[in-house]
Amino acid sequence: MKKKLALLVVAAMLAATITACGGSGETKAPSTQGNAGGETQAAGAETQAPAETQAPAGAEVANKDKPLVWFNRQPSNSSTGELDMAALNFNANTYYVGFDANQGAELQGTMIKDYIEKNIDTIDRNGDGIIGYVLAIGDIGHNDSIARTRGVRKALGTGVEKDGEINSEPIGTNADGSSSIVQDGTLEINGKTYTVREYASQEMKNSAGATWDAATAGNAIGTWASSFGDSIDIIASNNDGMGMSMFNAWSKDNNVPTFGYDANSDAVAAIAEGYGGTISQHADVQAYLTLRVLRNALDGVDIDTGIGTADEAGNVLSADVYTYKADERSYYALNVAVTADNYQDFTDSTKVYEPVANQLDESKNPTKKVWLNIYNSSDNFLSSTYQPLLQNYDKLLNLEVEYIGGDGQTESNITNRLGNPSQYDAFAINMVKTDNAASYTSLLSQ
Ligand code: BGC
Ligand code: CA
Repeated sequence: MKKKLALLVVAAMLAATITACGGSGETKAPSTQGNAGGETQAAGAETQAPAETQAPAGAEVANKDKPLVWFNRQPSNSSTGELDMAALNFNANTYYVGFDANQGAELQGTMIKDYIEKNIDTIDRNGDGIIGYVLAIGDIGHNDSIARTRGVRKALGTGVEKDGEINSEPIGTNADGSSSIVQDGTLEINGKTYTVREYASQEMKNSAGATWDAATAGNAIGTWASSFGDSIDIIASNNDGMGMSMFNAWSKDNNVPTFGYDANSDAVAAIAEGYGGTISQHADVQAYLTLRVLRNALDGVDIDTGIGTADEAGNVLSADVYTYKADERSYYALNVAVTADNYQDFTDSTKVYEPVANQLDESKNPTKKVWLNIYNSSDNFLSSTYQPLLQNYDKLLNLEVEYIGGDGQTESNITNRLGNPSQYDAFAINMVKTDNAASYTSLLSQ
Protein backbone atom coordinates (compact mmCIF):
# COMPACT_ATOMS: atom_id res chain seq x y z
CA MET A 1 0.00 0.00 0.00
CA LYS A 2 2.55 2.53 1.22
CA LYS A 3 4.95 1.53 -1.47
CA LYS A 4 2.30 2.04 -4.10
CA LEU A 5 1.47 5.48 -2.77
CA ALA A 6 5.12 6.46 -2.81
CA LEU A 7 5.37 5.29 -6.38
CA LEU A 8 2.37 7.36 -7.32
CA VAL A 9 3.89 10.43 -5.77
CA VAL A 10 7.12 9.87 -7.67
CA ALA A 11 5.14 9.35 -10.84
CA ALA A 12 3.23 12.55 -10.26
CA MET A 13 6.42 14.49 -9.59
CA LEU A 14 7.97 13.08 -12.70
CA ALA A 15 4.94 14.01 -14.69
CA ALA A 16 5.09 17.52 -13.27
CA THR A 17 8.68 17.82 -14.36
CA ILE A 18 7.88 16.60 -17.83
CA THR A 19 4.93 18.93 -18.18
CA ALA A 20 6.89 21.85 -16.78
CA CYS A 21 9.43 21.31 -19.53
CA GLY A 22 6.74 22.62 -21.87
CA GLY A 23 6.67 21.74 -25.52
CA SER A 24 4.24 19.08 -26.47
CA GLY A 25 3.52 18.27 -22.84
CA GLU A 26 1.84 21.63 -22.52
CA THR A 27 -0.94 20.93 -24.96
CA LYS A 28 -1.77 17.68 -23.27
CA ALA A 29 -1.72 18.91 -19.72
CA PRO A 30 -4.88 20.99 -19.52
CA SER A 31 -7.27 18.37 -20.49
CA THR A 32 -8.08 14.91 -19.35
CA GLN A 33 -11.31 16.04 -20.94
CA GLY A 34 -10.72 16.51 -24.59
CA ASN A 35 -13.02 18.86 -26.42
CA ALA A 36 -15.83 21.18 -25.49
CA GLY A 37 -18.17 20.62 -22.61
CA GLY A 38 -15.49 19.42 -20.27
CA GLU A 39 -14.15 22.97 -20.42
CA THR A 40 -14.99 24.01 -16.86
CA GLN A 41 -13.54 20.89 -15.39
CA ALA A 42 -10.38 21.05 -17.45
CA ALA A 43 -9.89 24.73 -16.74
CA GLY A 44 -10.12 24.07 -13.04
CA ALA A 45 -7.50 21.40 -13.24
CA GLU A 46 -5.28 23.72 -15.19
CA THR A 47 -5.03 26.35 -12.50
CA GLN A 48 -3.81 23.72 -10.10
CA ALA A 49 -0.57 21.89 -10.51
CA PRO A 50 -0.47 20.48 -14.02
CA ALA A 51 0.64 17.19 -12.51
CA GLU A 52 -2.91 16.64 -11.32
CA THR A 53 -4.07 15.68 -14.77
CA GLN A 54 -1.56 12.87 -14.78
CA ALA A 55 -2.79 11.45 -11.48
CA PRO A 56 -3.63 7.79 -12.09
CA ALA A 57 -6.69 7.50 -9.91
CA GLY A 58 -8.69 10.10 -11.80
CA ALA A 59 -9.13 11.96 -8.53
CA GLU A 60 -9.54 15.36 -10.19
CA VAL A 61 -12.17 14.65 -12.79
CA ALA A 62 -15.76 14.14 -11.70
CA ASN A 63 -17.08 10.74 -12.72
CA LYS A 64 -19.76 12.36 -14.82
CA ASP A 65 -17.07 14.04 -16.92
CA LYS A 66 -14.90 10.99 -17.53
CA PRO A 67 -14.67 9.46 -20.98
CA LEU A 68 -17.38 6.91 -21.65
CA VAL A 69 -17.81 4.55 -24.55
CA TRP A 70 -20.82 2.36 -25.18
CA PHE A 71 -20.01 -0.63 -27.33
CA ASN A 72 -21.73 -3.56 -29.04
CA ARG A 73 -25.18 -2.59 -27.79
CA GLN A 74 -26.11 0.88 -28.88
CA PRO A 75 -28.19 2.92 -26.46
CA SER A 76 -31.56 2.79 -28.14
CA ASN A 77 -35.21 2.06 -27.64
CA SER A 78 -35.61 -1.70 -27.82
CA SER A 79 -39.03 -1.49 -29.44
CA THR A 80 -38.52 1.30 -31.95
CA GLY A 81 -34.74 1.22 -32.42
CA GLU A 82 -34.62 4.98 -31.90
CA LEU A 83 -31.20 6.06 -30.62
CA ASP A 84 -30.94 7.21 -27.03
CA MET A 85 -29.23 10.52 -27.74
CA ALA A 86 -29.20 11.50 -24.08
CA ALA A 87 -26.98 8.51 -23.35
CA LEU A 88 -24.88 9.09 -26.45
CA ASN A 89 -24.34 12.70 -25.38
CA PHE A 90 -23.84 11.93 -21.71
CA ASN A 91 -20.76 14.14 -21.68
CA ALA A 92 -18.36 15.67 -24.19
CA ASN A 93 -16.34 12.47 -24.28
CA THR A 94 -19.09 9.96 -24.85
CA TYR A 95 -19.16 7.73 -27.95
CA TYR A 96 -20.61 4.50 -29.25
CA VAL A 97 -18.56 1.90 -31.07
CA GLY A 98 -20.30 -0.78 -33.09
CA PHE A 99 -20.59 -1.74 -36.70
CA ASP A 100 -22.79 -0.81 -39.63
CA ALA A 101 -25.76 -3.06 -38.94
CA ASN A 102 -27.57 -2.41 -42.21
CA GLN A 103 -24.56 -2.87 -44.45
CA GLY A 104 -23.75 -6.12 -42.62
CA ALA A 105 -27.32 -7.34 -42.75
CA GLU A 106 -27.47 -6.74 -46.46
CA LEU A 107 -24.20 -8.62 -46.92
CA GLN A 108 -25.51 -11.58 -44.95
CA GLY A 109 -28.69 -11.73 -47.03
CA THR A 110 -26.77 -11.44 -50.28
CA MET A 111 -24.25 -14.08 -49.19
CA ILE A 112 -27.11 -16.54 -48.67
CA LYS A 113 -28.80 -15.67 -51.92
CA ASP A 114 -25.52 -16.03 -53.83
CA TYR A 115 -24.99 -19.41 -52.26
CA ILE A 116 -28.43 -20.58 -53.36
CA GLU A 117 -27.82 -19.41 -56.92
CA LYS A 118 -24.44 -21.10 -57.12
CA ASN A 119 -25.71 -24.36 -55.69
CA ILE A 120 -29.13 -24.43 -57.25
CA ASP A 121 -28.63 -27.93 -58.69
CA THR A 122 -28.31 -29.50 -55.27
CA ILE A 123 -29.90 -27.09 -52.82
CA ASP A 124 -33.53 -28.23 -52.98
CA ARG A 125 -33.15 -31.37 -50.96
CA ASN A 126 -36.61 -32.83 -51.45
CA GLY A 127 -36.99 -31.51 -54.99
CA ASP A 128 -40.37 -29.85 -54.44
CA GLY A 129 -39.33 -26.52 -55.93
CA ILE A 130 -39.40 -24.79 -52.54
CA ILE A 131 -36.15 -23.66 -51.03
CA GLY A 132 -36.82 -23.76 -47.33
CA TYR A 133 -34.94 -22.07 -44.55
CA VAL A 134 -35.19 -21.64 -40.79
CA LEU A 135 -33.93 -18.62 -38.91
CA ALA A 136 -32.44 -18.22 -35.43
CA ILE A 137 -33.13 -14.76 -34.03
CA GLY A 138 -30.82 -13.38 -31.35
CA ASP A 139 -32.74 -10.70 -29.49
CA ILE A 140 -35.95 -9.15 -30.79
CA GLY A 141 -35.12 -5.89 -28.98
CA HIS A 142 -31.53 -5.50 -30.26
CA ASN A 143 -31.18 -3.36 -33.37
CA ASP A 144 -28.34 -5.49 -34.78
CA SER A 145 -30.46 -8.60 -34.51
CA ILE A 146 -33.43 -6.84 -36.08
CA ALA A 147 -31.29 -5.64 -38.98
CA ARG A 148 -29.98 -9.15 -39.68
CA THR A 149 -33.44 -10.69 -39.70
CA ARG A 150 -34.56 -8.00 -42.13
CA GLY A 151 -31.45 -8.46 -44.29
CA VAL A 152 -32.12 -12.15 -44.79
CA ARG A 153 -35.83 -11.66 -45.48
CA LYS A 154 -35.12 -8.82 -47.88
CA ALA A 155 -32.56 -10.72 -49.96
CA LEU A 156 -34.72 -13.84 -50.15
CA GLY A 157 -37.92 -11.95 -50.89
CA THR A 158 -39.68 -13.25 -47.80
CA GLY A 159 -40.02 -9.89 -46.03
CA VAL A 160 -43.37 -8.22 -45.43
CA GLU A 161 -43.50 -4.52 -44.73
CA LYS A 162 -44.85 -3.23 -41.48
CA ASP A 163 -44.77 0.49 -40.66
CA GLY A 164 -42.51 1.10 -43.64
CA GLU A 165 -39.88 -1.49 -42.70
CA ILE A 166 -39.53 -5.23 -43.10
CA ASN A 167 -41.21 -7.00 -40.23
CA SER A 168 -38.52 -8.60 -38.06
CA GLU A 169 -40.74 -10.57 -35.70
CA PRO A 170 -40.25 -14.30 -35.27
CA ILE A 171 -42.92 -16.38 -36.97
CA GLY A 172 -42.89 -19.52 -34.87
CA THR A 173 -43.61 -22.00 -37.67
CA ASN A 174 -44.98 -21.60 -41.18
CA ALA A 175 -45.42 -25.00 -42.77
CA ASP A 176 -47.77 -23.98 -45.58
CA GLY A 177 -46.59 -20.45 -46.29
CA SER A 178 -49.64 -18.80 -44.75
CA SER A 179 -47.80 -16.67 -42.18
CA SER A 180 -48.68 -12.98 -42.22
CA ILE A 181 -45.30 -11.95 -40.80
CA VAL A 182 -43.38 -13.32 -43.78
CA GLN A 183 -44.39 -14.26 -47.31
CA ASP A 184 -43.15 -16.83 -49.79
CA GLY A 185 -40.45 -15.30 -51.94
CA THR A 186 -39.46 -16.22 -55.46
CA LEU A 187 -36.05 -16.57 -57.02
CA GLU A 188 -35.50 -16.83 -60.76
CA ILE A 189 -32.47 -18.97 -61.38
CA ASN A 190 -31.39 -20.24 -64.80
CA GLY A 191 -34.83 -19.55 -66.17
CA LYS A 192 -36.61 -21.50 -63.47
CA THR A 193 -38.72 -19.99 -60.71
CA TYR A 194 -38.25 -21.23 -57.18
CA THR A 195 -40.27 -20.48 -54.10
CA VAL A 196 -38.38 -19.50 -50.97
CA ARG A 197 -40.10 -20.15 -47.67
CA GLU A 198 -39.20 -19.33 -44.10
CA TYR A 199 -40.44 -22.45 -42.33
CA ALA A 200 -39.62 -21.38 -38.82
CA SER A 201 -37.98 -18.65 -36.76
CA GLN A 202 -37.70 -17.98 -33.08
CA GLU A 203 -35.93 -15.71 -30.63
CA MET A 204 -33.28 -17.81 -28.93
CA LYS A 205 -33.88 -16.79 -25.37
CA ASN A 206 -33.41 -19.24 -22.53
CA SER A 207 -35.72 -19.66 -19.58
CA ALA A 208 -33.53 -17.42 -17.41
CA GLY A 209 -33.87 -14.63 -19.97
CA ALA A 210 -30.50 -14.72 -21.75
CA THR A 211 -30.83 -13.86 -25.44
CA TRP A 212 -28.69 -14.95 -28.42
CA ASP A 213 -28.63 -18.24 -26.55
CA ALA A 214 -26.66 -20.89 -28.41
CA ALA A 215 -27.98 -23.82 -26.40
CA THR A 216 -31.57 -22.77 -27.11
CA ALA A 217 -30.75 -22.70 -30.82
CA GLY A 218 -29.23 -26.18 -30.61
CA ASN A 219 -32.50 -27.46 -29.15
CA ALA A 220 -34.65 -25.53 -31.60
CA ILE A 221 -33.01 -27.10 -34.63
CA GLY A 222 -33.88 -30.53 -33.24
CA THR A 223 -37.52 -29.55 -33.01
CA TRP A 224 -37.53 -27.90 -36.42
CA ALA A 225 -35.78 -30.85 -38.05
CA SER A 226 -38.37 -33.25 -36.73
CA SER A 227 -41.20 -31.09 -38.10
CA PHE A 228 -39.66 -30.05 -41.41
CA GLY A 229 -36.91 -32.60 -42.10
CA ASP A 230 -35.64 -32.39 -45.65
CA SER A 231 -37.73 -29.34 -46.38
CA ILE A 232 -34.95 -27.41 -44.64
CA ASP A 233 -32.33 -26.47 -47.22
CA ILE A 234 -30.66 -23.53 -45.50
CA ILE A 235 -30.16 -22.37 -41.93
CA ALA A 236 -29.74 -18.68 -41.24
CA SER A 237 -28.70 -17.36 -37.88
CA ASN A 238 -28.34 -13.87 -36.45
CA ASN A 239 -24.94 -14.96 -35.11
CA ASP A 240 -22.31 -17.70 -35.18
CA GLY A 241 -22.83 -18.77 -31.57
CA MET A 242 -26.34 -19.98 -32.42
CA GLY A 243 -25.32 -20.99 -35.94
CA MET A 244 -22.53 -23.24 -34.73
CA SER A 245 -24.76 -24.77 -32.12
CA MET A 246 -27.24 -25.75 -34.85
CA PHE A 247 -24.44 -26.84 -37.15
CA ASN A 248 -22.98 -29.15 -34.54
CA ALA A 249 -26.36 -30.46 -33.45
CA TRP A 250 -27.78 -31.17 -36.87
CA SER A 251 -26.81 -29.38 -40.05
CA LYS A 252 -23.25 -30.63 -40.35
CA ASP A 253 -24.39 -34.26 -40.41
CA ASN A 254 -27.24 -33.41 -42.75
CA ASN A 255 -25.17 -31.29 -45.12
CA VAL A 256 -27.37 -28.25 -44.70
CA PRO A 257 -25.42 -25.01 -45.20
CA THR A 258 -25.65 -22.79 -42.14
CA PHE A 259 -24.95 -19.07 -42.19
CA GLY A 260 -24.03 -17.00 -39.20
CA TYR A 261 -22.53 -13.67 -38.30
CA ASP A 262 -19.38 -12.60 -36.38
CA ALA A 263 -16.64 -14.70 -38.00
CA ASN A 264 -15.69 -16.29 -34.69
CA SER A 265 -12.69 -18.57 -35.20
CA ASP A 266 -14.68 -21.78 -34.73
CA ALA A 267 -17.26 -20.75 -37.32
CA VAL A 268 -14.62 -19.76 -39.84
CA ALA A 269 -12.90 -23.11 -39.36
CA ALA A 270 -16.24 -24.87 -39.88
CA ILE A 271 -16.51 -23.43 -43.38
CA ALA A 272 -14.10 -26.18 -44.40
CA GLU A 273 -16.68 -28.66 -43.11
CA GLY A 274 -19.73 -27.22 -44.78
CA TYR A 275 -20.71 -24.21 -42.66
CA GLY A 276 -22.09 -21.89 -45.32
CA GLY A 277 -20.48 -18.62 -44.35
CA THR A 278 -20.41 -15.78 -41.90
CA ILE A 279 -19.90 -12.04 -41.71
CA SER A 280 -16.94 -10.38 -40.10
CA GLN A 281 -18.15 -7.28 -38.29
CA HIS A 282 -14.49 -6.26 -38.05
CA ALA A 283 -14.31 -6.84 -34.33
CA ASP A 284 -10.58 -6.18 -34.64
CA VAL A 285 -11.39 -2.62 -35.66
CA GLN A 286 -14.20 -2.23 -33.12
CA ALA A 287 -12.17 -3.40 -30.15
CA TYR A 288 -9.45 -0.97 -31.13
CA LEU A 289 -11.91 1.92 -31.50
CA THR A 290 -13.53 1.09 -28.18
CA LEU A 291 -10.30 1.65 -26.32
CA ARG A 292 -8.86 4.22 -28.68
CA VAL A 293 -11.59 6.81 -28.19
CA LEU A 294 -11.04 6.52 -24.44
CA ARG A 295 -7.28 6.85 -24.89
CA ASN A 296 -7.71 9.99 -26.99
CA ALA A 297 -10.16 11.57 -24.60
CA LEU A 298 -7.86 10.81 -21.67
CA ASP A 299 -4.91 12.35 -23.50
CA GLY A 300 -6.96 15.39 -24.44
CA VAL A 301 -5.99 15.03 -28.08
CA ASP A 302 -8.13 15.22 -31.17
CA ILE A 303 -10.55 12.29 -31.14
CA ASP A 304 -9.43 11.29 -34.64
CA THR A 305 -5.88 10.55 -33.45
CA GLY A 306 -4.84 7.02 -34.43
CA ILE A 307 -8.20 6.64 -36.16
CA GLY A 308 -8.52 8.72 -39.33
CA THR A 309 -5.25 10.53 -38.58
CA ALA A 310 -2.07 8.58 -37.92
CA ASP A 311 -0.71 8.84 -34.39
CA GLU A 312 3.00 9.06 -33.58
CA ALA A 313 3.31 5.29 -33.50
CA GLY A 314 1.81 5.06 -36.98
CA ASN A 315 -1.59 3.67 -36.05
CA VAL A 316 -4.28 4.66 -38.52
CA LEU A 317 -7.48 3.21 -39.97
CA SER A 318 -8.46 3.56 -43.60
CA ALA A 319 -11.91 4.70 -44.64
CA ASP A 320 -12.86 1.28 -45.95
CA VAL A 321 -13.00 -0.27 -42.48
CA TYR A 322 -15.09 2.22 -40.48
CA THR A 323 -17.30 5.27 -40.61
CA TYR A 324 -17.99 7.92 -38.00
CA LYS A 325 -21.38 9.58 -37.73
CA ALA A 326 -20.93 12.73 -35.72
CA ASP A 327 -24.66 13.31 -35.21
CA GLU A 328 -24.96 9.84 -33.67
CA ARG A 329 -21.67 10.11 -31.78
CA SER A 330 -21.01 6.68 -33.22
CA TYR A 331 -18.16 4.81 -34.85
CA TYR A 332 -19.28 1.96 -37.08
CA ALA A 333 -16.93 -0.73 -38.37
CA LEU A 334 -17.73 -2.07 -41.82
CA ASN A 335 -18.52 -5.73 -42.44
CA VAL A 336 -16.98 -8.28 -44.77
CA ALA A 337 -18.52 -11.55 -46.00
CA VAL A 338 -16.50 -14.65 -45.12
CA THR A 339 -17.17 -17.63 -47.37
CA ALA A 340 -15.41 -20.66 -48.81
CA ASP A 341 -13.65 -18.24 -51.17
CA ASN A 342 -11.79 -16.20 -48.57
CA TYR A 343 -12.09 -17.82 -45.14
CA GLN A 344 -8.37 -18.60 -44.99
CA ASP A 345 -7.80 -14.91 -44.32
CA PHE A 346 -10.03 -14.94 -41.24
CA THR A 347 -8.93 -17.99 -39.27
CA ASP A 348 -7.93 -16.12 -36.10
CA SER A 349 -10.68 -13.77 -34.96
CA THR A 350 -8.59 -12.54 -32.01
CA LYS A 351 -5.72 -11.17 -34.04
CA VAL A 352 -5.18 -7.41 -33.81
CA TYR A 353 -5.67 -5.42 -36.98
CA GLU A 354 -2.22 -4.79 -38.42
CA PRO A 355 -2.58 -1.06 -39.27
CA VAL A 356 -3.38 -0.28 -35.63
CA ALA A 357 -1.11 -2.74 -33.87
CA ASN A 358 1.67 -0.35 -32.88
CA GLN A 359 2.57 0.12 -29.23
CA LEU A 360 2.04 3.59 -27.81
CA ASP A 361 4.90 5.21 -25.93
CA GLU A 362 4.17 5.12 -22.22
CA SER A 363 5.90 8.40 -21.55
CA LYS A 364 3.47 10.15 -23.87
CA ASN A 365 0.37 8.07 -23.23
CA PRO A 366 0.69 7.16 -19.56
CA THR A 367 -1.19 4.23 -18.10
CA LYS A 368 -4.83 4.89 -17.26
CA LYS A 369 -7.43 2.75 -15.62
CA VAL A 370 -10.55 1.68 -17.45
CA TRP A 371 -13.64 -0.09 -16.15
CA LEU A 372 -15.13 -2.27 -18.86
CA ASN A 373 -17.96 -4.75 -18.78
CA ILE A 374 -19.06 -7.57 -21.06
CA TYR A 375 -22.83 -7.92 -20.67
CA ASN A 376 -22.76 -11.70 -20.88
CA SER A 377 -19.58 -13.56 -20.06
CA SER A 378 -20.85 -16.62 -21.93
CA ASP A 379 -21.73 -14.85 -25.18
CA ASN A 380 -19.71 -16.59 -27.90
CA PHE A 381 -18.83 -13.50 -29.87
CA LEU A 382 -17.95 -11.31 -26.93
CA SER A 383 -15.99 -13.93 -25.04
CA SER A 384 -14.23 -15.70 -27.91
CA THR A 385 -13.60 -12.75 -30.19
CA TYR A 386 -14.22 -9.30 -28.73
CA GLN A 387 -12.74 -9.59 -25.26
CA PRO A 388 -9.53 -11.34 -26.41
CA LEU A 389 -9.10 -8.51 -28.91
CA LEU A 390 -9.63 -5.88 -26.22
CA GLN A 391 -7.02 -7.67 -24.13
CA ASN A 392 -4.56 -7.47 -26.98
CA TYR A 393 -5.16 -3.78 -27.56
CA ASP A 394 -5.22 -2.64 -23.94
CA LYS A 395 -1.47 -3.19 -23.59
CA LEU A 396 -0.72 -1.50 -26.89
CA LEU A 397 -2.68 1.55 -25.74
CA ASN A 398 -1.29 1.57 -22.19
CA LEU A 399 -4.69 1.05 -20.65
CA GLU A 400 -5.13 -0.99 -17.55
CA VAL A 401 -8.56 -2.46 -18.05
CA GLU A 402 -10.66 -4.16 -15.45
CA TYR A 403 -12.95 -6.62 -17.22
CA ILE A 404 -16.30 -7.30 -15.60
CA GLY A 405 -18.38 -10.20 -16.92
CA GLY A 406 -22.16 -10.04 -16.59
CA ASP A 407 -24.73 -12.84 -16.57
CA GLY A 408 -26.50 -11.64 -19.70
CA GLN A 409 -29.79 -11.21 -17.90
CA THR A 410 -29.71 -8.60 -15.20
CA GLU A 411 -28.29 -5.13 -15.44
CA SER A 412 -27.80 -4.96 -11.68
CA ASN A 413 -25.42 -7.90 -11.78
CA ILE A 414 -23.10 -5.50 -13.62
CA THR A 415 -24.00 -2.14 -12.12
CA ASN A 416 -23.40 -3.61 -8.66
CA ARG A 417 -19.79 -3.84 -9.68
CA LEU A 418 -19.55 -0.21 -10.62
CA GLY A 419 -19.68 0.73 -6.97
CA ASN A 420 -16.64 2.96 -6.99
CA PRO A 421 -16.30 4.73 -10.31
CA SER A 422 -13.81 7.15 -8.78
CA GLN A 423 -11.17 4.45 -9.01
CA TYR A 424 -11.22 4.60 -12.80
CA ASP A 425 -10.31 7.16 -15.43
CA ALA A 426 -12.76 6.00 -18.06
CA PHE A 427 -15.59 3.54 -18.71
CA ALA A 428 -16.57 1.15 -21.48
CA ILE A 429 -20.08 -0.21 -21.21
CA ASN A 430 -21.88 -3.13 -22.86
CA MET A 431 -25.48 -3.05 -21.65
CA VAL A 432 -27.74 -6.03 -21.16
CA LYS A 433 -30.66 -4.09 -22.56
CA THR A 434 -30.18 -1.19 -24.89
CA ASP A 435 -32.81 0.85 -23.04
CA ASN A 436 -30.87 0.78 -19.80
CA ALA A 437 -28.17 3.40 -20.28
CA ALA A 438 -29.49 5.44 -17.37
CA SER A 439 -28.71 2.70 -14.88
CA TYR A 440 -25.04 3.34 -15.64
CA THR A 441 -25.03 7.07 -16.17
CA SER A 442 -26.91 7.62 -12.94
CA LEU A 443 -24.05 5.90 -11.10
CA LEU A 444 -21.56 8.15 -12.81
CA SER A 445 -23.61 11.23 -12.04
CA GLN A 446 -23.78 10.74 -8.29
C1 BGC B 1 -23.04 -10.25 -32.13
C2 BGC B 1 -23.67 -11.35 -31.38
C3 BGC B 1 -23.64 -11.07 -29.93
C4 BGC B 1 -24.22 -9.72 -29.65
C5 BGC B 1 -24.13 -9.36 -28.21
C6 BGC B 1 -23.68 -8.95 -31.77
O1 BGC B 1 -23.06 -7.92 -32.44
O2 BGC B 1 -23.15 -10.46 -33.49
O3 BGC B 1 -23.01 -12.54 -31.64
O4 BGC B 1 -24.34 -12.07 -29.24
O5 BGC B 1 -23.56 -8.77 -30.40
O6 BGC B 1 -24.66 -8.12 -27.97
CA1 CA C 1 -37.53 -28.15 -51.01
